[in-house]
Amino acid sequence: MSLFEINKIAGALLAAMLTAGIATTISNLVYPDPHVPEVLLAVPASDDAPAPSADAPATPESVPIADRLAAADPAKGEREAKKCAACHTFASGEPARVGPNLYGLVDRPIAASDDFRYSPAMTAQGGTWTYDDLDAFLAGPKAYVPGTSMAFAGVRDPAARAAIIAWLRLQADAPAPLPTP
Ligand code: HEC
Repeated sequence: MSLFEINKIAGALLAAMLTAGIATTISNLVYPDPHVPEVLLAVPASDDAPAPSADAPATPESVPIADRLAAADPAKGEREAKKCAACHTFASGEPARVGPNLYGLVDRPIAASDDFRYSPAMTAQGGTWTYDDLDAFLAGPKAYVPGTSMAFAGVRDPAARAAIIAWLRLQADAPAPLPTP
């Protein structure tokens, strides 16, 4: 065998090894190594994932509304509340639209706007609109008041909800005191 032929064979071998190496790398990227334990591969599928353990970093969801309100920017809330304005008015004395007027909402009895016909579900709810109630209701109206006629999916972002509530609080004769974090 000539030196030339040996070189050719060595070259081909090298190329084959390189190709195989690249292919393995790519396949490892695309198909994770089956030996990696399941736990490391698992990606929480939804919000219903198990609650994080105590020493996990705080997710926005786990920050109490009092703390989120303390950090909230009412000006941002006013912008966020544009999506509510399709159905709600916010100033004193304004009429109901698809939904009731929301002036003075914080601490107001639930379903208390005189010129609005609430759903039986909302009327039966009882109590007043606390910060906690508002936070939970705005996160998922249909989940919090099953049967509500408020056709709105909710505001998923906990910080955005807090901003809306911080702005709503100011739409009142005397804004309700902020909760102590
Ligand atoms: C598609 C229309 C629509 C949108 C958008 C909407 N709402 Fe409503 N909302 C309603 C209706 C209708 C009701 C009455 C629900 C019932 O009687 O069950 C209501 C009720 C409420 C109530 C209860 C009021 C009371 O007097 O007890 C609150 C609080 C509220 N909405 C806040 C909001 C906020 C904040 C937003 C925006 C983030 C929003 N809504 C977006 C239609 C809407």
